[in-house]
Amino acid sequence: MKKYNVCVVGVGVVGLEMLRVLKQRNFPVGQLRVLARSAREIEVDGQKYSVEAISPEGFNDVDIALFAGTEGEKGAAVTYAPEAVKRGAVVIDNGADFRMDPKVPLVVPEVNSQDVKKHKGIIANPNCSTIQMVVALSPIHKKVGIKRIIVTTLQASSGAGKSAVEQLKAETSVISSGGFDRLHADVKNKAMPQQLAFNVFPHIGGFSEDDYTSEEWKMVKETHKIMHDDKIKISATTVRVPVRTGHSESVYIETKKPIKPQELRQLLSKSPGIVVIDDPKNNLYPMPKDVEGRDETFVGRIRRDTFVKNGLWLWVVADNLRKGAATNAVQIAECVISNSK
Ligand SMILES: NC(=O)c1ccc[n+]([C@@H]2O[C@H](COP(=O)([O-])OP(=O)(O)OC[C@H]3O[C@@H](n4cnc5c(N)ncnc54)[C@H](OP(=O)(O)O)[C@@H]3O)[C@@H](O)[C@H]2O)c1
Repeated sequence: MKKYNVCVVGVGVVGLEMLRVLKQRNFPVGQLRVLARSAREIEVDGQKYSVEAISPEGFNDVDIALFAGTEGEKGAAVTYAPEAVKRGAVVIDNGADFRMDPKVPLVVPEVNSQDVKKHKGIIANPNCSTIQMVVALSPIHKKVGIKRIIVTTLQASSGAGKSAVEQLKAETSVISSGGFDRLHADVKNKAMPQQLAFNVFPHIGGFSEDDYTSEEWKMVKETHKIMHDDKIKISATTVRVPVRTGHSESVYIETKKPIKPQELRQLLSKSPGIVVIDDPKNNLYPMPKDVEGRDETFVGRIRRDTFVKNGLWLWVVADNLRKGAATNAVQIAECVISNSK
């Protein structure tokens, strides 16, 4: 079997998960290079990796470069993704820097794997909250058409990187060590705009157009691009909750043609990458604590809206570090190599 030289950029919460996913999915890795801002030795599940400091030469002889560095001007992708492409690599980027570039495909393999073929060197991985929503909604859109989506997300701390997980841990420890008498924890080096322990806040990303946050706009624009339909009316409220890993979403949809909840359960049960857990009488529905480490998107609480014709509700949960980031990126890499055969 042909092997591919792979490079992982970034060893934060997503980068570490990529190393796991490559191994667990038996990706045909030839040489593996791990790059970050600084060189050091790391250990993941008992295996040691040497991390090298990033440089343009680090991309020599790399076939596939999986980027999981911080976004923006000082992040890895803006500087080094074009450099990696120049040296012959196909880049799969987890950040937002290239997602809305019309020349860059934005891919969730269960939904639009055919777009991988259009790449010119860079392929973008969507935002975690968008990925799980489109996995759940795409089969419905293909069958009966979706004209409206209203979504509220409940996003875990690891969605904001390893420093956000550290913030949640520190705050939880301060509050619990005081016997829960006070629910305020003023810790240093906050990675998020508010205290997260024993709290929730509707503020992910910066506030922008029409008082929606950048995260909320990502869910709108990325969904339009992935589903190839910018007529779907989408409104999002994105909320950070004190969960370590696993994003949940309360999703309301209005379909063009009618579909009964039971038909919807059957449709989603046989759709790729989806597990339906929907037995409320026995207290069975998806929860973040149960999906950590899993690659599928879990759907439950499927029910009709009592007041709106063709209105339906779903509860959608996935591991933001796996399907929301690392697994989706490695699945894209699998599409790249199967297209090259
Ligand atoms: N967390 C999620 O659920 C999630 C989901 C989807 C997409 N993403 C995206 O995935 C990317 C990584 O997120 P994360 O949560 O893993 O972040 P993180 O935990 O903060 O880790 C960031 C990593 O990027 C490295 N890095 C930062 N700037 C770099 C540069 N200029 N050159 C090389 N390496 C650099 C850091 O290196 P050092 O360790 O040396 O400092 C660190 O290892 C981000 O673009 C994020 O938006 C995250």
